[in-house]
Amino acid sequence: MEKLIKSATVLDPHLIKNDFPVFKRRVNGKPLIYLDNAATSQKPESVINSIDNYYRNHNSNIHRGVHTLSYESTVMYEEAHKKVAEFIGAEDWRNIIFTRNATESINLLAYGWGLHNLKEGDEILITIMEHHSNIVPWQMLRDLKGIKINVLGVDEKGNLKLDDLPGLLSERTKLVSVIHASNVLGTVNPVKYITQEAKKVGALVLIDAAQSIPHLSIDVNDIGCDFLVASGHKMLGPTGIGFIYGRTELLQDMEPFMYGGDMIEKVTIEKTTWNELPWKFEAGTPNIVGGIGLGVAVDYLQNIGLTNIYNHEEELLVYALEKMAEYDWIKIYGHKSDSQSVGVISFNIEGIHPHDVAGMLDEQGIAVRSGHHCAQPLMRELSMDFAARVSFYLYNTKEEIDLCIETLKKIKKLFE
Ligand SMILES: Cc1ncc(COP(=O)(O)O)c(C=O)c1O
Repeated sequence: MEKLIKSATVLDPHLIKNDFPVFKRRVNGKPLIYLDNAATSQKPESVINSIDNYYRNHNSNIHRGVHTLSYESTVMYEEAHKKVAEFIGAEDWRNIIFTRNATESINLLAYGWGLHNLKEGDEILITIMEHHSNIVPWQMLRDLKGIKINVLGVDEKGNLKLDDLPGLLSERTKLVSVIHASNVLGTVNPVKYITQEAKKVGALVLIDAAQSIPHLSIDVNDIGCDFLVASGHKMLGPTGIGFIYGRTELLQDMEPFMYGGDMIEKVTIEKTTWNELPWKFEAGTPNIVGGIGLGVAVDYLQNIGLTNIYNHEEELLVYALEKMAEYDWIKIYGHKSDSQSVGVISFNIEGIHPHDVAGMLDEQGIAVRSGHHCAQPLMRELSMDFAARVSFYLYNTKEEIDLCIETLKKIKKLFE
């Protein structure tokens, strides 16, 4: 509630909506109000067209032929790596490995790096804010390798307890794996500071940027992290494509995660040597069209400008928090300090299950998420089993927030 808008928006969400065909449809007879962007974003026409265009005009396998279509596909797919690299300030496109999503990216690192570099007694530090995809793979390693998982907590305001950080780091800490922006609270964590602290004890740092990269300008060199992961579908790209950024030496030293075609340099029955980066980690025929679509999504985001997107969402966030605070039957989680947030608000309505809230909003064409948001440890810590969640993106408007809150008022009345 103490958040202040730092700069006026220069982005017109009404115009932007025209780029997204889904907003032409109606849901339950009403115009679609899509407030479930933390789950996945909608796709602009340019991304949809790029998929259509690829299959109509270029479809073929990459790295496998001298014919024109194969050459074109290879160039387009590599180009997409370059766009992602540039987007996050990576020096070389070969530092970008395409995966299916953030979950697969973290698994790749757990298997490719963790399995071969961690030993009994080593420690990993995560936070209580993590999405399950940044908890469960490390539990697999804990059980296989006998490592310990330490956890940095949150305070009652929804911020990480940074004062506890030095006490949780030691020369035993080999990896700090931390969520950049919370998919439950919206809190943006100070990953640069956390990275600096982790480096003091020689730990590697992995940033889960799934919820930050759609909204914030990210520079991996500025953060100083070793790895960063994200999902394309939350940043206007297609589903089934995500990526890892990794530092060259680390990726070169790492074992592959998947073995087979395309990830090899030379195969004999006795022995195989690995392909160069990033192909060493992209075994088999990859999601070529997904990668190309992600590259086009990056173009779209860069055209609008991440600063404009962030400022617009901040304006929506402040507006929504102020409006929701007018009703004492709406309980909002987090957002109790002026720390940086993305446009995510988890809330509950007194006496009504969030699934009922989401179901009744849907009757009015309003899409929100309800559930545990794949962050059960955090939900438990905040004493909520389930919550409803609205999450904003560049095409959302204040009128949509008004309509959502008006509908919440009607739902509350109905249940009384
Ligand atoms: C913070 C965070 N990390 C990771 C993920 C996993 O993303 P995906 O399901 O695309 O692998 C999510 C998905 O919601 C998320 O919010």
